[in-house]
Amino acid sequence: MHILVTGGAGYIGSHAALRLLRDGHRVVIVDNLYRGHAGAVNAIARAAGRNASNLNFHRLDLLDTQALEHMMRAHAVHAVMHFAALTYVGESVNRPLDYWRANTAGALSLLTAADAAGVTRLIFSSTAATYGEPGPQDVPIREDLVQRPINPYGASKLAFERILTEHTHACKASGKDFACAFLRYFNVCGSDRSGALGEHHDPETHLIPIVLHCLLGRRPQSSNTLSIFGHDYPTPDGTAVRDYVNVEDLVDAHVHTLAALKAGDVRSYNIGTGTGLSVRQIVDAAERVTGLKLKTADAPRRAGDPATLYADPGKIAREIGWKAATREVEPMIEHAWAWMKANPRGYAN
Ligand SMILES: NC(=O)c1ccc[n+]([C@@H]2O[C@H](COP(=O)([O-])OP(=O)(O)OC[C@H]3O[C@@H](n4cnc5c(N)ncnc54)[C@H](O)[C@@H]3O)[C@@H](O)[C@H]2O)c1
Repeated sequence: MHILVTGGAGYIGSHAALRLLRDGHRVVIVDNLYRGHAGAVNAIARAAGRNASNLNFHRLDLLDTQALEHMMRAHAVHAVMHFAALTYVGESVNRPLDYWRANTAGALSLLTAADAAGVTRLIFSSTAATYGEPGPQDVPIREDLVQRPINPYGASKLAFERILTEHTHACKASGKDFACAFLRYFNVCGSDRSGALGEHHDPETHLIPIVLHCLLGRRPQSSNTLSIFGHDYPTPDGTAVRDYVNVEDLVDAHVHTLAALKAGDVRSYNIGTGTGLSVRQIVDAAERVTGLKLKTADAPRRAGDPATLYADPGKIAREIGWKAATREVEPMIEHAWAWMKANPRGYAN
């Protein structure tokens, strides 16, 4: 199958591209490199070995509908995995227009091109941020929880869920072969176990890489001290609890979902492990894995950060048999740690 991976020079998209190549698919990556890395594309090609000839890369913006359509026709693209997006909640509050442009208008442009080029399947990286601020009674979070995003990031993602739903219904009504899925991710972490790929965000906002950067002495602006936002939450140790899913398992969920989609389907799945870990538990696990001691400082809670968030991943398990294979956080930290130590400047090496 020929699969278009948007955002394939970024963290999750690069892992997806490599998995698809290893599975024997042909892959075309589209990324404007605004937040992605040419080095990630090179690393995918190196790791894919003899399958590297099945990889193409186009530096394109999602808003370039014509170029996308042309490229999809030229490669006879069958399915799209759409990862490209702007992804920072705080930035989205300060720069909402950029988020609506990239995450909604950009995605609409991609879908328009895909429709014109006869693409039949699309899997969209959605997010738990579309649920907004669930209360304690809503956890574990199921797909039928009302979606009330509280920031432009979540809202711009939810808007595309709606666009995709309406488009798929219209295709079904007119007999056109098209199906889609939105996978709503919780906290994604870890990296490819072969050591080829890693997580390189700039700035980094995810807990595990921040912890590891502090341990490596790479956050001098914070004296390499981890600020723990909130230490008086109603959780066992007072710190916030989240659901950490391995990036390789997440990619596996995409592969399973793509295989399961039938014409007319609009599927939505929460992708997590179904269990929560606190900030303190992540710190303890990172100390065990690295053998190093982390400096931490208690900081006030951040607005909009609920005490506990984790997925109920039962729907995808029941419908297509996917479950996160990695249940412990230590292996995810080990892989991330190995890649960071081997690549001190990330993909800028
Ligand atoms: N990382 C997480 O924990 C997490 C959690 C929930 C949802 N998600 C979603 O998963 C997806 C991937 O996240 P990630 O962590 O890999 O992000 P990332 O920033 O590493 O990758 C996103 C990629 O998209 C590219 N891109 C952005 N705007 C573009 C545009 N207009 N045209 C072309 N390319 C563009 C960037 O250059 C980057 O390479 C995103 O859609 C994000 O919203 C991620």
